[in-house]
Amino acid sequence: MIPLVKTNIPDREKLMPELEKVLYSGYVAQGEQVENFERVFEAFIGSGHALSVNSGTAALHIALILIGVKSGDEVISTALTAEPTNVAIKMVGAKIRYADVDYHTGNISPKSIEENINEFTKAIMVVDYAGIPVNVSEIQRISKKYNIPVIHDAAHALGAKYNGFKTGNHFPFTVFSFQAIKLLTTIDGGMLQIATKEEYEKAKLIRWFGIDKKLTRLENDIQVQGYKYHMNNINATIGLVQLDEIDTILNIHIDNGKYFDSSLQNIPGVDLINYYPGSEPAYWLYTLKVENREGFIKQMGEKGIMASELHKRNDWHSYLNDFPVKLPNLDKFYSRLVHLPCGYWVNPQERAMIVETIKKGW
Ligand SMILES: Cc1ncc(COP(=O)(O)O)c(C=O)c1O
Repeated sequence: MIPLVKTNIPDREKLMPELEKVLYSGYVAQGEQVENFERVFEAFIGSGHALSVNSGTAALHIALILIGVKSGDEVISTALTAEPTNVAIKMVGAKIRYADVDYHTGNISPKSIEENINEFTKAIMVVDYAGIPVNVSEIQRISKKYNIPVIHDAAHALGAKYNGFKTGNHFPFTVFSFQAIKLLTTIDGGMLQIATKEEYEKAKLIRWFGIDKKLTRLENDIQVQGYKYHMNNINATIGLVQLDEIDTILNIHIDNGKYFDSSLQNIPGVDLINYYPGSEPAYWLYTLKVENREGFIKQMGEKGIMASELHKRNDWHSYLNDFPVKLPNLDKFYSRLVHLPCGYWVNPQERAMIVETIKKGW
């Protein structure tokens, strides 16, 4: 079976010497490797300050705290995402208000965001779902117009671009996840890319118990609620080795994704994603809409191809459905949504076979 997602661990010859060095160095906690990982990651993104953490969820939590989202506030978000996006909003006691999606991308609709803004709206959460960039320029316009900050959940979108700039350059806070099956994995981990130095310094305190690492323990006077969210040298070492070959990995995803974009056109029952102008997806998964999705998934499964909608839309979780509303575009999109494997593990013969299988119908 060609899996939909797969963990990427660098070659033993490359990874193990680095890991061994750190494991037996006498210092495995947050130290030099973490610092290096952050600085190399920052350079990869191209602007801002990278704060490593032990999960993408921790990064979301810190971003929400920095914005000051709390009980009584609302965050406009999307239901088409993995649960952590919205669970994080509940972690700070706020309520989730779902905007609908754009039918042609599945991503949060700027028009619907604007319609849902009210006096309680404290932040807007947007997700590059499956690696497809959101409508950055429209969301930036709305953020500016109403003075509401945006958190960009880019857990699926490392290396995606909008108007030539990588995801991580568009909004004050961008969240990456390095969990096991993501484009880059540190086994577990995440990064909060922060636009300003000031917010970055605050985030450092929140990451580690409110303690300022620049001072001794005795000199410290904790003044904010902090958490144990830091990354350690072991995970950072895995991250550094991964970053060294990330362009190769991303390019295979992108090449496979573009191949599907061109080869799956004009097939009865298949409706391709119409990306926003200027956007370049990361193609963590390949996303499309099909008629008779169950039949499609079954047919693909019989040919050894794993296809799935992967995530349960979040408004179908009672706890994550604070304001039940109709989301007509999402209803339509989600009933047809399916993902196909398009990662580094899918070779040219396999991708051609996937296309041929779809062309035969289901
Ligand atoms: C869209 C999205 N946001 C956030 C997260 C949270 O990341 P993590 O699992 O690293 O906490 C995930 C991953 O599971 C995700 O898919």
